[in-house]
Amino acid sequence: MTSLEDALRPAVGAAHVLVDDDLRAPYETDWTRRFTGAARCVVRPASTAEVVAVVRACAAAGAPVVVQGGNTGLVGAGVPAGGEVLVSLARLAEVEPVDAVEAQVTVGAGVTLEKLQTHARAAGLDFGVDLAARSSATVGGMIATNAGGIRVLRHGSMRAQVVGLEAVLADGSVLTRLGGLAKDNTGYDLTQLVAGSEGTLAIVTRARLRLVPLLPARAVALVAVAGTDAALDLLAAARAELATLSAAEIFYPEGLDLVRSHARLPAPFDGPAGAYVVLECAARTDPTDHILELLSSCKAVEDATVASDRAGLERLWAYREAHTEAISAAGVPTKLDVCVPLGELTALVAELPATVARVTPTARVIPFGHLNEGNLHLNVLDAGDRSEEVTDAVLRLVAAHRGTISSEHGVGRAKAPWLSLSRTPEEIGAMRRIKAALDPQGMLNPGVLLPG
Ligand code: MLT
Ligand code: ZN
Repeated sequence: MTSLEDALRPAVGAAHVLVDDDLRAPYETDWTRRFTGAARCVVRPASTAEVVAVVRACAAAGAPVVVQGGNTGLVGAGVPAGGEVLVSLARLAEVEPVDAVEAQVTVGAGVTLEKLQTHARAAGLDFGVDLAARSSATVGGMIATNAGGIRVLRHGSMRAQVVGLEAVLADGSVLTRLGGLAKDNTGYDLTQLVAGSEGTLAIVTRARLRLVPLLPARAVALVAVAGTDAALDLLAAARAELATLSAAEIFYPEGLDLVRSHARLPAPFDGPAGAYVVLECAARTDPTDHILELLSSCKAVEDATVASDRAGLERLWAYREAHTEAISAAGVPTKLDVCVPLGELTALVAELPATVARVTPTARVIPFGHLNEGNLHLNVLDAGDRSEEVTDAVLRLVAAHRGTISSEHGVGRAKAPWLSLSRTPEEIGAMRRIKAALDPQGMLNPGVLLPG
């Protein structure tokens, strides 16, 4: 009898079917070290046709698959629960020439965000999504999770950049919509259905992406404010007065301390502050004056430092962007990515420490995130064996403040049990029917997104 592995080898080449423990290992644990599971084998197709062959072989063998991009996901959706065939899309790394007239480009799912940005910039354009994991995060994974990042304020999240895609369904049929038409009103928007479906409906193999103008002149301000309320006052002023605003981020003293000791950064200000806001403006000509004008007129500003040269921008962004790495170096965090209406943000931040302390007094909450969207990354360290109880308490608090349990990281395996805090039974029922129609065998990313 032929084994599944024997059927996969001719499909992708024997060197790209990894069965040995040490070869599989790098794919089996997520970046945060919170999720790990043994794969039956790791398969690395290099084209849509090879993905089709892999999916057909797995379907014939009744073997479920889990799909992985750059393995930078934060909700355990890209690593096996145990026994699945892991399909790595890293080799789908083809980049087509930029279409400057349409301001679009078609790329493979395994292309990293950094490679896409470099490619777009070489053509005088840019890509609208940016995030700290740019060197590893891949286009396919970013589409599957509808990734957000630091420029959602200006260009929207990943979904808004996706004009069309190519994707392999669970039966091996291929949806191809890469024509790039700006307007196309011909029925169900399958591209947008697949985007954000976390690999549960189809495997994205290529994408047609919208590009945005390249804005080479940037100015960043790191601003000390009294707390969340003052940060929101600053945000309101920035939104009203800065037409070139491209990012508005927040972090707190707990995060700053971790980042400073991890990245060996100096204190940004002489004294402490209740919260820190990063504002960035981007334009064709230097926007520094606009940002300085805002800082001098806004009463919420306690102290500020501004940069517009490359080294200065990197230096100021490091205080915000090094959070994930600094937290991870301090331990294995419980990571909760939530979003509340801006009017609820102050109360949420104020209630968090007591909510977590009721579960376990040893835990520390480090909030930071995308102020403009009310999107906080609540990273909890030292929760010990109470991680699940902390998750439950925090997500219920967020729901009580009319928020969502996942703002930009997705639901994955990590939050599937809490989906009903953000979606009605009718919505979950409709999602299940869509899943059953497109993947009746439950082959693609089982256990991800929809509770078991
Ligand atoms: C970020 O915005 O830096 C990441 O999405 C957050 C995280 O690591 O929790
Ligand atoms: Zn984020």
